[in-house]
Amino acid sequence: MSTSRESSCLQLPAVGRFRIRLALGKDVVAITRIYNESVLHSVATFQISPDTVRRRQSWLRSHGARHPAFVLEQAGAIMGWSALSPYSLREAWRFTVEDSIYLDASVLGRGWGEKMLTHLLEVARGLGHRVVLARIVASHKASICLHQKLGFTEAGRLCGVGFKFGVWHDVIYLQKDFGTS
Ligand SMILES: CC(C)(COP(=O)(O)OP(=O)(O)OC[C@H]1O[C@@H](n2cnc3c(N)ncnc32)[C@H](O)[C@@H]1OP(=O)(O)O)[C@@H](O)C(=O)NCCC(=O)NCCS
Repeated sequence: MSTSRESSCLQLPAVGRFRIRLALGKDVVAITRIYNESVLHSVATFQISPDTVRRRQSWLRSHGARHPAFVLEQAGAIMGWSALSPYSLREAWRFTVEDSIYLDASVLGRGWGEKMLTHLLEVARGLGHRVVLARIVASHKASICLHQKLGFTEAGRLCGVGFKFGVWHDVIYLQKDFGTS
């Protein structure tokens, strides 16, 4: 990673007992571990086979200035990550992004997910994105409630589109619209 990327991370403020900073190459092992907890043990992601560190490295490299990825760091340990990703690569979608937030299972329910999503929304707005989308499995109350708490509204439902752990799952689309303000 470049020096400028490294120095821009250091300018991000600490938030409470942790800090949120741009993700770096050195964070990929922790990012992969945290993501694979959900791959293997939940329907939060429809990915079924664990990700490899190599694939996550390429995922991080694809997250440039308009679609940044962040980590939540506590006492030098990575306890979560978040990212803005393009929803579609077709050009007219360029002001619409999709959010992702994954915390280590040991730190759920402390308000950190809310801090991460609040931060991600501030970044999205600052970058000039107009709409942030979340695609969430319908049974995932925690993530749906978190997004609704931060102003996301339901934008549609896809029925029976995912098959994981022997069950068909619905997906709810939520969107947060910054409009032109
Ligand atoms: C979803 C996730 C990011 C929430 O983060 P968190 O730190 O546990 O949530 P917070 O403590 O910040 O809670 C913020 C709000 O989210 C909602 N929420 C969180 N956990 C909840 C639960 N178990 N049930 C219902 N609502 C919940 C509530 O609205 C809560 O606000 P409140 O405390 O005023 O009621 C976290 O559970 C996570 O990372 N899970 C594993 C990965 C994952 O599922 N990612 C989302 C993929 S769509």
